[in-house]
Amino acid sequence: MSSSIEESRTADDASRAAISPAQSDVEARLIENVLRSFEQCTEPRTKSLMQSLVRHLHAFIREVRLTEAEWEKSIEFLTAVGHITDDRRQEFILLSDVLGASMQTINVNNEAVGNATEATVFGPFFVDDAPFIANGGDIAGAGVGQPCWVEGSVKDVEGNPIPNARIEVWEADEDGFYDVQYTDDRVSGRAHLFSNDAGSYNFWGLTPTPYPIPHDGPVGKMLETTGRSPMRASHLHFMVTAPGFRTLVTHIFVRGDELIKSDTVFGVKDSLVKDFAHQLPGTPAPDGRELADSDWSRVRFDIVLAPEVA
Ligand code: BEZ
Ligand code: FE
Repeated sequence: MSSSIEESRTADDASRAAISPAQSDVEARLIENVLRSFEQCTEPRTKSLMQSLVRHLHAFIREVRLTEAEWEKSIEFLTAVGHITDDRRQEFILLSDVLGASMQTINVNNEAVGNATEATVFGPFFVDDAPFIANGGDIAGAGVGQPCWVEGSVKDVEGNPIPNARIEVWEADEDGFYDVQYTDDRVSGRAHLFSNDAGSYNFWGLTPTPYPIPHDGPVGKMLETTGRSPMRASHLHFMVTAPGFRTLVTHIFVRGDELIKSDTVFGVKDSLVKDFAHQLPGTPAPDGRELADSDWSRVRFDIVLAPEVA
């Protein structure tokens, strides 16, 4: 008997005490049969993934003593998730996000390296080919919101500057929408720029504000049914790439935002919460921009890239 099959005998079964030994044996034997059906799989990773999935799925069914009505409801739910998914809407990823599965996969694959900046969820609103801006440029476009001066550096874990790192940034406007959620083909709240020779960068964006994830589908309904909020903590997305370094997908969050502790996709990490310093109208801006009538904010985000693993 293979070790994976043996493990099925010891699978978590909180309610085993409540079922007869004969019933427990029936259930365990089924797991063994299902595990054995994958024994001839010649691709070791696929075999291991499938057998582990079977063990955990059956452990769940047995632990909660899943009723047939609940099984049917689960199938209906997954069918609805599939039906609403198309090229523009990925409800399965949203489901993974709100279950913390996306964030856990990121944790597993982005182990901390020294003081390298931590990663967080990608989200559905990144767009390839966002416009280029020079340092000091403005990503807001038609997007409305309070101006925010963003500045920082890109360095390696030894503190050496990384010039010419590609920095993609994207964010929602103050109404809580990304450009791609409007129907007028606008491009706003997104751009790419490069760190300069000293590894520094800066640009104008918008002070991030909270917004809900798309919640008009089955995932939104599940959140409502379970008393959960669809709101994300205010954030600004970054993706930073440079040859020889691990690609960093992350956000910065606004210190003081009341949603920091309840981000619906579990994306917040303490190290990513930054001070967005509020500036009164008329406060001189770093690049001389006239902001006589408008509040604005400024934030510093120093990025440290981990080396690429061979
Ligand atoms: C976002 O930050 O853009 C996002 C992340 C996960 C799910 C939905 C939206
Ligand atoms: Fe976002």
